Amino acid sequence: MQAKVNLKLVDEVIKSWGADPAFLIPMMQDIQAQYNYLPRPALNRLQEKLNIPLTRVSEVATFYKTFSLKPKGKYIIQVCTGTACHLRGAPRIADSFMRELGIEVNGTTKNGLFTLSTVNCLGACALAPVVKVNEDVHGQVSSDKVKKIIEAYAARKK
Ligand code: FES
Repeated sequence: MQAKVNLKLVDEVIKSWGADPAFLIPMMQDIQAQYNYLPRPALNRLQEKLNIPLTRVSEVATFYKTFSLKPKGKYIIQVCTGTACHLRGAPRIADSFMRELGIEVNGTTKNGLFTLSTVNCLGACALAPVVKVNEDVHGQVSSDKVKKIIEAYAARKK
């Protein structure tokens, strides 16, 4: 789901960094924190206000993995596929999420609620298999728990 881009908000971010092109990356991080991705109109505004080439902004946006040019869901589900989790059934868990959400890995549900991704070790191997939803870590996840996890987040108001 595309977020409506409030350019005033983008202007505030630019102002908070003194409109200094040296702070392009933190400005982009702040913008992504607002929208969960980097909307095109926001990048155009950055380029315009900082008076730098749009190619420079695009290069930064595509170089750093942390940036996304595509809208992401409100909840980012990360299924750990590191060795410990893999051995304890991570591929089955990822399959269950794909089936329940009707999306592939790196896809986002049409209602804009969930983005599914995989990650290489979340640093909680003792809890394998591990799934992280935004900042929440879920340990010893089984295929049976997948539906419950999705339902719990879908039921949240905020
Ligand atoms: S391998 Fe999954 S948390 Fe380390």
